[in-house]
Amino acid sequence: MMMKKHCFCEWILLLCHLLLAALVCSKHYGNPANDLVDIINQNRTAQKLSRLNDSPGLGCMALQYVELCKGNCSGNSAVSCKPPEDDFTEVFAPNCGVELPTIGTITGLIVGCQSKYTEPSLAFANVLVKDKKSLSVVRNKSHSEVGVGLIGFHKGPFFWCVLFSNGGTNSSFVLEDRGEGIKQNKGCYSGSAFPCNAGHRNAMLFNCITITLGCLIISLLNKI
Ligand SMILES: *[C@@H]1O[C@H](CO)[C@@H](O)[C@H](O)[C@H]1NC(C)=O
Ligand SMILES: *[C@@H]1O[C@H](CO)[C@@H](O)[C@H](O)[C@H]1NC(C)=O
Ligand SMILES: *[C@@H]1O[C@H](CO)[C@@H](O)[C@H](O)[C@H]1NC(C)=O
Ligand SMILES: *[C@@H]1O[C@H](CO)[C@@H](O)[C@H](O)[C@H]1NC(C)=O
Repeated sequence: MMMKKHCFCEWILLLCHLLLAALVCSKHYGNPANDLVDIINQNRTAQKLSRLNDSPGLGCMALQYVELCKGNCSGNSAVSCKPPEDDFTEVFAPNCGVELPTIGTITGLIVGCQSKYTEPSLAFANVLVKDKKSLSVVRNKSHSEVGVGLIGFHKGPFFWCVLFSNGGTNSSFVLEDRGEGIKQNKGCYSGSAFPCNAGHRNAMLFNCITITLGCLIISLLNKI
């Protein structure tokens, strides 16, 4: 009788640990691109500037943009990366499924990189918006919408890209297929209908597995 009760408690404990692990894991499976859009909007509204609409079409193009920057992360979070202007209409839009007639004007662009993934708030302050010039881009009154893309390369740097536009909320950078566009295989972008696959995910998954295994082992050891 005593033994049975003991086991029951163990199982409850194990279940709690697994739940905790799942919680920790799911938190990091969110979309950091959406978090960065929120941070940008908080920074703007604190200055009484308008909130920017989160445009998935623009976000997808931001992701396309940084995918081309892979080898171009110089130290100090600077990116020397300037794809040809025509790429926006000829490469990025078709790859994203952005309807061509709805492509608007890009009114701002910020790119940054670092050696590994950091939380969106740290990426904002330490990578993307760390000088007056980029802060004035964030706070420019011309923008009406924003899109964020991010991608991590295997053992390589981690890139963020923010694109701003002055287009009409529902009429610019419209995605085909009722707003879903074309699924991206790598990275993630704000407003995406698909789950994030940014490259930080594998590291997180590894942590989750470690936590879960740790719990299992502790529970088993307690039993002996
Ligand atoms: C990356 O850097 C190389 C060398 O400076 C340059 O030739 C190339 O155009 C850059 N890539 C992009 C997309 O700007
Ligand atoms: C705001 O962005 C527009 C479009 O890119 C640019 O022409 C203008 O100079 C910017 N304004 C400021 C204050 O930076
Ligand atoms: C906005 O961003 C700038 C640059 O990172 C920072 O110095 C400032 O404190 C931020 N403002 C708010 C209200 O978060
Ligand atoms: C834009 O689209 C949203 C969602 O589809 C809709 O609720 C909103 O009324 C639209 N706004 C305009 C200006 O058409």
